[in-house]
Amino acid sequence: MTNRIFLIGFMGSGKTTHGRKLANKLCWRFEDMDERIGELTGLTVPEIFERHGEEYFRLKESEVLDTLCEREKVVVSTGGGVPCHHDNMERMNGCGLTIYLKLPPGALLIRLAGSKTERPLLTGKTEEDIQQTIVDMLAVREPYYNQAKVVIDGHADVVDRILRVISQNKF
Ligand code: S3P
Repeated sequence: MTNRIFLIGFMGSGKTTHGRKLANKLCWRFEDMDERIGELTGLTVPEIFERHGEEYFRLKESEVLDTLCEREKVVVSTGGGVPCHHDNMERMNGCGLTIYLKLPPGALLIRLAGSKTERPLLTGKTEEDIQQTIVDMLAVREPYYNQAKVVIDGHADVVDRILRVISQNKF
């Protein structure tokens, strides 16, 4: 059985919330990539985007992924852009079980509109703009997300369904 799980998916898809619960149930460590990047750089995600730009942030994501690929018994909540940059998706598939938490644009919009987390890619946008951004970005990102070994409907019973998948000993 795998001892490394990567939760992937769009911003607001519940990777962190479900990831924490899943790690708890498995008695594994939980790691949030944005938090690790914060520790590595001493900056928040919005500060990194503002001071150094997106490309630098993507490099930090890859660096953090390097260290997480060495960890055992870990559930990782990845940032929404992680699978879509560098060779991250290939690397995650090479060293663990990737699970895409899939939600339709409407559900993502509701979650993002109610979220307190500041996300530089959505900052300053109206709800209408965010709706369009979700649709546009999903069109680009889903081909990467769909490379996950498992795709799970992000609406309900996410943790239980993941536990069922891994207990079937397929991974
Ligand atoms: C990003 C998603 C964010 C964070 C950054 C960029 C993205 O993480 O890494 O704002 O490119 O989709 P969440 O997916 O946890 O919101």
